Amino acid sequence: MTAPARTRSSAELIRAEEPVLAHNYHPLPVVVARAEGAWVEDVEGRRYLDMLAGYSALNFGHRNPVLIEAAHRQLDRLTLTSRAFHNDQLAEFAESLAALTGQDMVLPMNTGAEAVESAVKVARKWAYEVKGVPADRATIVVASGNFHGRTTTIVSFSTDETARSGFGPFTPGFRIVPYNDLAALEAAVDETTAAVLIEPIQGEAGVVIPDEGYLAGVRALTSRAGCLFIADEIQSGLGRTGRTLAVDHEGVVPDVVLLGKALGGGIVPVSAVVARRDVLGVLQPGEHGSTFGGNPLAAAVGSAVVGLLETGEFQRWAAELGAVLRDGLAALVGKGVVGFRARGLWAGVDVDPAIGTGREISERLMQEGILVKDTHGSTIRLAPPLTITDAELRSALETLEKVLAA
Ligand SMILES: Cc1ncc(COP(=O)(O)O)c(C=O)c1O
Repeated sequence: MTAPARTRSSAELIRAEEPVLAHNYHPLPVVVARAEGAWVEDVEGRRYLDMLAGYSALNFGHRNPVLIEAAHRQLDRLTLTSRAFHNDQLAEFAESLAALTGQDMVLPMNTGAEAVESAVKVARKWAYEVKGVPADRATIVVASGNFHGRTTTIVSFSTDETARSGFGPFTPGFRIVPYNDLAALEAAVDETTAAVLIEPIQGEAGVVIPDEGYLAGVRALTSRAGCLFIADEIQSGLGRTGRTLAVDHEGVVPDVVLLGKALGGGIVPVSAVVARRDVLGVLQPGEHGSTFGGNPLAAAVGSAVVGLLETGEFQRWAAELGAVLRDGLAALVGKGVVGFRARGLWAGVDVDPAIGTGREISERLMQEGILVKDTHGSTIRLAPPLTITDAELRSALETLEKVLAA
């Protein structure tokens, strides 16, 4: 049977969503129907260059042929077993991911928030069993401006009132310190501290890059204090910044690394906690789980993602083209851009508020065939697929210049 012909326009589909979909997002008014590489096409056949890439979930482009082939192959053999049984894809996925990240063990989950939740549980258990923190006294130190997901425990330590308001009571056991402030971190860590949980670059906050030495400082401090360093690389990891992990820029190896988004190749949700054996080894059968975590389809796609990163090609391209992005943005400072932060193919661009809000700029760019998304106020975030060409990136920068000048 063939699919029925599409009968509804973009405008009709957007109107149809309104009464039946929860309003937890405020999408741009574009209805995507097809995609390939760095390009998406809407219902009417208009093409847009995707400069957001699913908040880095599409690092390898839409429908990357290597990943699609791996998914097809697996779809035809086995898709789900639950962890009640072993499946023949999981060992290779865990081996290759541990090797790629320089860690020992993998806890496979599905979404980013689940990986963060899992790490919170593992860190607490590690604190009680290995560090000897008295029962129920463990604390985790986090940074202001963080974004780690949307569950009740995670929003408990958010500093974004929109994310928290109306969702209490909150989970205790978290201390919040300013980001990029080692002295404040030092003051917050004590004998109850299980872990310091931070993003090596704060994505949602507007691609906020800490000072050189901060990540190495967090590593030294946590080692000294005998607590875990958990790096949330769910958005910053897997090639985005021009290295496999953002912490690689400072040659730092955290105790626990959280991955998600691009790990699923833009095909399926795949996340993971990767850590040393003495950390993840605290989990015993029955203490934690997920029906879908580590399913064979996810594992096959995840292994193929790791395969792409093992060549180093995407990291090199992100670094090389990242210089084009940085230079292009630097040339726009004073021409509508008041500031920007960039690393690899990832940038937060602060637009002069007199020109428009981030939302308004995003809508104007959309009309010119470029998809981006605002973060806070007048900041827009650029995170194109790492498969974008030099010409495509330069053309996006020209369009940005034109929109800012209009
Ligand atoms: C750093 C970071 N951690 C966690 C998450 C949550 O991931 P998910 O939306 O898959 O739950 C995100 C999502 O944007 C993120 O950027």
